Amino acid sequence: MKVLVTGGRGVIGRAVTSRLLDAGHEVVSADLVPVGAGDPGQAHQVVADVTEAGHVWPLVAGQDAVVHLAGIPEAGVMPDAVVFATNVLGTLHVLEAARAAGVHGVVWASSATLLGLDGVSQPRPAYLPVDEDHPARAAHIYALSKLVGESLALYAAGRSQRLSLWSLRLTLVLGPDNWEREGAPRLADPDRGARHLFAYVWVDDVADAVLRCLELSAAGHRGHRALLISGPDVLSPLPLETLRQRYFPAIPWRGGGTLVCTRRAQQVLGLAFWRSWTSHPPARVCAGGR
Ligand SMILES: NC(=O)c1ccc[n+]([C@@H]2O[C@H](COP(=O)([O-])OP(=O)(O)OC[C@H]3O[C@@H](n4cnc5c(N)ncnc54)[C@H](O)[C@@H]3O)[C@@H](O)[C@H]2O)c1
Repeated sequence: MKVLVTGGRGVIGRAVTSRLLDAGHEVVSADLVPVGAGDPGQAHQVVADVTEAGHVWPLVAGQDAVVHLAGIPEAGVMPDAVVFATNVLGTLHVLEAARAAGVHGVVWASSATLLGLDGVSQPRPAYLPVDEDHPARAAHIYALSKLVGESLALYAAGRSQRLSLWSLRLTLVLGPDNWEREGAPRLADPDRGARHLFAYVWVDDVADAVLRCLELSAAGHRGHRALLISGPDVLSPLPLETLRQRYFPAIPWRGGGTLVCTRRAQQVLGLAFWRSWTSHPPARVCAGGR
């Protein structure tokens, strides 16, 4: 399969590109930032801005599928208008170009923050574990950009008989590249972890999910699916029950081993998200002592 990966130089983009190359696919990796050391070797690397239709459309033409990861991955790092414009315009151009080019599959990185796991204010879920049916309640511009992106995906699906669209609602994505910056501080500070419902997913599980979506698209899946992608346990040394009683005592509890339910994604994709922080952080972090 010929696959365009946007944001191919990012944390998730590098893992996805490697996974696709390992599975024998031909990958074009597009990013604002030029190629650097440590980038997966056999991908064709292109510098492109996904907010420019003139960059996106020629890149999408001739591809079998697109994995759209380019964007600004959190609120507060850029002015709100830039976060919104980058994430929404990029998704719009990719979806429109994919529809016009007859691409069969688009997988793109939505976010569980659109459910209100916002990292800014304490979340007040209607019930736990949250699942895909939980009401969306974007609490900042980044989450709103993902909510609009999912509306664009639904819109594109409604205008094409051919497209298979996957909005992957990722929780905090962790891997060797960002464990010390993003993972370790949350382990040490449960108040911080609570704002994300102690949810995370290991980057290799995300790469597996993306590959599986592309395989299902190639096999004839059509329409739009939004799926929560999250790991097998909580990002905390404390037991789930302790966390639940301390942080979410009054919230109706539906049972399970995490605060984010991935049953639907596991059923649809036929995958288990099994990689746990307890066994996957880099050895040097483990050596630092938890
Ligand atoms: N990391 C997470 O925890 C997480 C969780 C949920 C969703 N996501 C989403 O996953 C995607 C990838 O996130 P990541 O963690 O790899 O982030 P990242 O910042 O590591 O990678 C994003 C990449 O997109 C590129 N980019 C930014 N603007 C661009 C533009 N206008 N044109 C082309 N490329 C551009 C950047 O140069 C960067 O390489 C993002 O859409 C993010 O919102 C990430």
